[in-house]
Amino acid sequence: MKALITAGGKGTRLRPITHTQNKHLIPVANKKILDYALEYVKEAGITEVGIITNKGDTEVQDVYGDGSDFGLNLTYIPQDSPRGLADCVRIAQPFIGDEPFVFYLGDNIIVGGIKRFVQQFQENGTSCHLVLSKVPDPERFGVPEIKNNRIVRVEEKPEKAKSDFAVTGIYLYDHNIFEAVNNIEMSDRGELEISDAHQYLIDKGLEVSYSEITGWWKDTGKPRDLIEANRLVLDNVERKIEGQVDDNSIIQGRVNIAKSAQIINSQIRGPVIIGEGVKVKDSYIGPYTSLDKDTHVKNSELEFSIIMEEVKIYNQTSRLENSILGKNAAVAKSLRKPAANKFIIGENSRVALL
Ligand code: DAU
Repeated sequence: MKALITAGGKGTRLRPITHTQNKHLIPVANKKILDYALEYVKEAGITEVGIITNKGDTEVQDVYGDGSDFGLNLTYIPQDSPRGLADCVRIAQPFIGDEPFVFYLGDNIIVGGIKRFVQQFQENGTSCHLVLSKVPDPERFGVPEIKNNRIVRVEEKPEKAKSDFAVTGIYLYDHNIFEAVNNIEMSDRGELEISDAHQYLIDKGLEVSYSEITGWWKDTGKPRDLIEANRLVLDNVERKIEGQVDDNSIIQGRVNIAKSAQIINSQIRGPVIIGEGVKVKDSYIGPYTSLDKDTHVKNSELEFSIIMEEVKIYNQTSRLENSILGKNAAVAKSLRKPAANKFIIGENSRVALL
């Protein structure tokens, strides 16, 4: 069994963060989104992994190299342009050969990993196994129509969904998928849709089996999804305090503080994760917040936020929440009169002052 993971695409819905960074490398609970995919695959007992990247983009390869840090053997498969998920499968055929494989969308995060689905696929012996999750907004996803416990149709982002399930980004296939992806047409939005490939298999009379995710699953396509994924991962964080905490600070609940972090005269209320080199002084850090490496927070309050590496947050007396601050960003307020907010803001940034 092999694995194919996507790490290409446009990432337009996560701008401006994705102007300078591949979305799969954005941290969720201080870990890159793609790290989760690689760990799930390894845990499922798969070591031969292909990664789809945008042609000419070496960012992912620069981070993961040959994959040995994860105990994997990685092969990078460049895609000319983001022509759709079925195109990702199509160009991976030389790498996959005749083996069954799991196709995993690298921007998905799922609690409990994928091992159970790989096992179900192997037990079922079907050509294609889909993993479904009940969602409030199925129109954003591939949607199955189910009759008598069988998937009879799959539609991509339909106007009116025929069930309240989303097809998640975890697919298991045998070699039949290659005939499908080589015979479907471009959709109206100019992509080779994976849902059309699934429909091709159904029309050919092949059984498409499925299982339902009972825990949680998140497609991190939009900023709100990222904050929600951060919240869900942090829900499982364990209390571990290795850094320096002075006597004037209070640490409540499940808080993880890395060795070289310093907490001075502050209150931290978990679940929170604080990375190496982080300094928090005279501040409050509330639930569901992650502070990545070398970030400094002084005289500020924040919660429910993703703060990436080397960020500076100074004198934010009105609480920052539901925020995503990219690497090396700064949010500061002068304490001297005249007090004013001062911003240097890149294209497509969003700032809400309430
Ligand atoms: O997350 C589940 C959904 O993923 C499914 O319900 C949909 O049926 C499926 O089409 C897909 O929809 P999205 O609109 O969320 O796909 P997105 O364009 O965000 O791409 C998903 C992943 O694949 C992401 O890791 C980027 C990568 N990608 C995407 C395309 C279109 C590529 O590497 N190459 C591509 O050509």
